[in-house]
Amino acid sequence: MRFQDQIAIVSGAASGMGLRSAERLAAEGAQVVLTDANEAAAVAAAERICAAGGRALGLPVDVRRYDQIAAAVERGEREFGPIDLLINCAGGASSRVVGRPVPWHEQDIDVIEWGLDVNLKGAVLCARAVFGGMLARRRGVILSLGSVDGVTGSHCVDYGAAKRGIVGLTKSLALLGAPRGVRANCVSPGPVLTRPEMANMATRLGRAAAPDEIVTMILYLCSDDAAFVTGQNFVIDGGRSVGAME
Ligand SMILES: NC(=O)c1ccc[n+]([C@@H]2O[C@H](COP(=O)([O-])OP(=O)(O)OC[C@H]3O[C@@H](n4cnc5c(N)ncnc54)[C@H](O)[C@@H]3O)[C@@H](O)[C@H]2O)c1
Repeated sequence: MRFQDQIAIVSGAASGMGLRSAERLAAEGAQVVLTDANEAAAVAAAERICAAGGRALGLPVDVRRYDQIAAAVERGEREFGPIDLLINCAGGASSRVVGRPVPWHEQDIDVIEWGLDVNLKGAVLCARAVFGGMLARRRGVILSLGSVDGVTGSHCVDYGAAKRGIVGLTKSLALLGAPRGVRANCVSPGPVLTRPEMANMATRLGRAAAPDEIVTMILYLCSDDAAFVTGQNFVIDGGRSVGAME
């Protein structure tokens, strides 16, 4: 029960690693605000956590909208108390989620803007919404999902750029937060089986990760076990970024 009596807010919590992080935080004692653009799925996930004996709230948040983020933080703090943990999970490669299968330089501009806004601006805005409270209470952790694509580059250029930006966000928050006890770290996964097709992405270890292999690191970095760890990017990619892949 590493997170007993702690309050967490998770973006992109309706599926994949965001959902799994929320479930495992709740199982370890946290009260969790699950936010997602998919309101129905966020609410259903929170209800499942509550039915299993946890405390959770599902709320609609498009991370491109600061008013929605601020409203979710306000509602979560009213229901549970001050936010201790933020996990920035909302994201995805724009070419896959909203784009057309064309070379990147032919991609629609609104698709590229979606990629930058959801993957980077959203995390910056979510951090903005909780950081002041964390500094004032001299306590808090912000954990953001990067990607190995931010290390190696990506065929989806806006995705690679945004995920590299998450490392800059993390180091900047760590710099400002450290004097007042607030930590920030980044986890940059290689392929994760939140979708079956991720098994096709090459790694040195010859397989993709199970979501729990990444979420275990996310929870470690959010916990007091990692009290001396801040401003770092943890690449968990089965060796994909090691050497040149044939
Ligand atoms: N799965 C992988 O192989 C992998 C690899 C590296 C990095 N990542 C990163 O990890 C994070 C989680 O990945 P996943 O595969 O678990 O995700 P997922 O696709 O299962 O879930 C992403 C969630 O984000 C939500 N979302 C999309 N747009 C949103 C918006 N504008 N506002 C709020 N929510 C929005 C979706 O509704 C969805 O529930 C993402 O940032 C992703 O880029 C994933």
